[in-house]
Amino acid sequence: MRFSFIKSAFPIGIDVSDLSLKLVQFGIVGGKIKLQALNRLDLKPGIIENGEIKDMGKAVEKIKELVSVPMFGKVNSNKVVACLPETKTFIKLLKIEKTPNSLGDIVEAEIQKYIPLFLNEIYFDWQLIEDKDAEQSVLAGAAPKKIVSQYAELFSAADLSIEALEIEPVAICRSLLPEESPRFSGEGKNYIIIDLGARRSSIVYYSSGTILFSMSLPLAGEALTDAIAKNLKINREKAEKAKILYGLDASKGKGIINKILSGMITELNKKIKESLDFYQNYYTEEGLIQEIILCGGGANVNGIEKAISDSVAIEVKKGDALINLEDAGEKLSQLLKWMSGLNINCDYTRNINSLIQDPTLTFATAIGLALRGVFADKK
Ligand SMILES: Nc1ncnc2c1ncn2[C@@H]1O[C@H](COP(=O)(O)OP(=O)(O)OP(=O)(O)O)[C@@H](O)[C@H]1O
Ligand SMILES: [Mg+2]
Repeated sequence: MRFSFIKSAFPIGIDVSDLSLKLVQFGIVGGKIKLQALNRLDLKPGIIENGEIKDMGKAVEKIKELVSVPMFGKVNSNKVVACLPETKTFIKLLKIEKTPNSLGDIVEAEIQKYIPLFLNEIYFDWQLIEDKDAEQSVLAGAAPKKIVSQYAELFSAADLSIEALEIEPVAICRSLLPEESPRFSGEGKNYIIIDLGARRSSIVYYSSGTILFSMSLPLAGEALTDAIAKNLKINREKAEKAKILYGLDASKGKGIINKILSGMITELNKKIKESLDFYQNYYTEEGLIQEIILCGGGANVNGIEKAISDSVAIEVKKGDALINLEDAGEKLSQLLKWMSGLNINCDYTRNINSLIQDPTLTFATAIGLALRGVFADKK
């Protein structure tokens, strides 16, 4: 008799960035999460710009390549969970005073305040989180129809069907926060999560099992590299190496890289403080933030935790994107280390990738997307 312990094929998680595509798929064997497939591809600049697909033909080709020949495993589903870039979307826990007006109307009016588009140009959704005597908390999310339809076209042309198109902070929280696991019990913490990507970065506030809000940040890995290249009059490849090797370590490279990066991180700290002011004013009942968690490749900048915690006086940690993965975490971590050390095409990015200390941080979004189906199944 043959047993099949794989309960179902879970949807694949695909993180579409301007310069890379990342794929993770999980399965379940003997009740445990296992890694089904893993892949990553670089994208040339210009195919996707600021989250908008500029060259659909090339993007479709790359998605097909991503899915059909993973570096590890075999994709066994044509369903996809993907996300829209944080910069293009909106998510906020609205605190709404009770009035005779319909909650739906109030939420619509609130959403309009934050998004520079007409209601007929966006998709939006909301869910009641808490209902108190005088006030209701409603989690509202919105995304421009234009971007949603681009992503729909992208996946359908690649013969995939969209199971869900999420807002990126939702996926990031699912991979990094133990509170998001169906196994979690007890009291949750208040977090700030900062995703420092190549082209875009964002900050997400999270409390009691829900996202409160997210904001885009004006700093990302490419801009750090560009600043180093410009200041030192060196090419981008050298600048990228210097950024990764020296980071904020003032004792290295005559402290020049430290000086350049420090200036940019000061800007980041300013933005964090502005967002903290907003948090303290609007979310008065949630209490103090207990931890700041960093993810995305930029979280690997040497010394960045201290540079942020010294400024905002909150504990700062690198995220653990494997925290909700049980045994699959070990395998994934090994494979990502191996992948980032590969030098297959000898191309520039892969050379640099071999220097990245913790490649799992760049996979936080893809892991969170892939976990959606697994967690839904376990709840
Ligand atoms: N050790 C390191 N020190 C500094 N920066 C690093 C390090 N490792 C990776 N990075 C930077 O991380 C960035 C890539 O991060 P990530 O993979 O999270 O981006 P992405 O998800 O592809 O892009 P985005 O989220 O902007 O669309 C690059 O800019 C890279 O230079
Ligand atoms: Mg990213």
